[in-house]
Amino acid sequence: MTATSLTIHPAHAVRGTLEMPGDKSISHRFALLGALARGQTTITGLSSGADVASTVACLRALGVDLSGNGGGALRVEGRGLGALRAPSDVLDAGNSGTTMRLMAGVLAGRGFTSTITGDASLRRRPMQRVIDPLTAMGAAIRSEHGRAPLEIRGGALTGIAWASPVASAQIKSAVLLAGLSASGTTTVREPLPSRDHTERLLPVFGVEVHLADNAVSVRGGQTPMAPADALHVPGDASAAAVWAAAAAALPGSAVRIRGVGLNPLRLGFARVLARMGAHVTIEQETAGAGEPAGTLVVTSGDQHRVEIAADEVPSLIDELPVLAAAAALGGGLSVRGAGELRVKESDRIAALVEGLRALGLDADERPDGFEVAGGQRPSGGEVDARHDHRLVMAFALAALAAEAPTVIHGADIVGVSYPDFVRDLTSLIGR
Ligand code: S3P
Repeated sequence: MTATSLTIHPAHAVRGTLEMPGDKSISHRFALLGALARGQTTITGLSSGADVASTVACLRALGVDLSGNGGGALRVEGRGLGALRAPSDVLDAGNSGTTMRLMAGVLAGRGFTSTITGDASLRRRPMQRVIDPLTAMGAAIRSEHGRAPLEIRGGALTGIAWASPVASAQIKSAVLLAGLSASGTTTVREPLPSRDHTERLLPVFGVEVHLADNAVSVRGGQTPMAPADALHVPGDASAAAVWAAAAAALPGSAVRIRGVGLNPLRLGFARVLARMGAHVTIEQETAGAGEPAGTLVVTSGDQHRVEIAADEVPSLIDELPVLAAAAALGGGLSVRGAGELRVKESDRIAALVEGLRALGLDADERPDGFEVAGGQRPSGGEVDARHDHRLVMAFALAALAAEAPTVIHGADIVGVSYPDFVRDLTSLIGR
């Protein structure tokens, strides 16, 4: 791979056993909660991606002592929420929406003013969805049209009951983290359950949360405490989804992914692959710190057309691009109720459909989803990943079944979540 483009030659199948990089969502939260806690938190298996490095850099800029060895181990010397210091420069969340939104929740309750920004993609993404609840709690946030940079003047917050119009773990987490500094209780209600890592992990740091049908509450004034034992981040289920989907789509494939996170709210993709006709099994399940993990085994099987509706979308939002690529080779796919895809790292509905078409595949946009016909063979060719790591992985999957080589432009962005993507791809196709 050059700095920006990746050439993929056709391959027949994916076969092998792998471990994934540490889960991105869980890594952000372990680092952040460790920084807010009192005591030393030791983390192993931290995501090696640039997004989590952005969270670590922001925490350092706020005066937190974090030391890593580059091999997934991180030690965080927490001195409590009150020890965070005003940064001397603008905080940079890079490409990471999770960093920006969760940090906004933390900064809202601090007695200083700070500014957080990100790369061109992140500066286009909607932040009003966190500005609104944090302002209702008492923070003063300045932005242009609800986009980053955000200037956050934190202060004394009051707990609220917030009904989020979208199912979003980032919104939920921002409000709950602000709720830790607020007076009274803060409750977030969602239209559908989004990934629940924050509410699983707060109790690992001794913070009580209350769960009731699609709502989660936290009482303010609780001090997170560093857990005595090291915290291990399970492998990233969203990274595993690429190989699982490739195994489902390419006849003769079999992949085993060890030590991967098995949180049910992240496994919508595995349920869809099973509906498509792949053989999906889970082995050796273990309970880690707040999160289940185990081995996911996927082998190719039948190829049925599948429909995905709104109620299933939060459990597979990040996996829709690879599911689309797999379904184009397999039985086809219809997705509705996924308008949130338009405000991810790219407009993922437009960019996905455009990219699949560039590879010679038939796909159509819908306002809140897309349609992909099944039984297709990509031509190969050139495609632009539009600065979106999930699209690099989806186009790479399609490229494996193409008639000719595929060049993916802008492929280095895959490093925000999966720096060793090319190494793992090479090992699974036996080159
Ligand atoms: C994430 C939540 C999801 C997901 C993102 C990571 C998180 O976003 O798409 O990649 O770590 O909380 P939303 O919660 O905004 O849907």
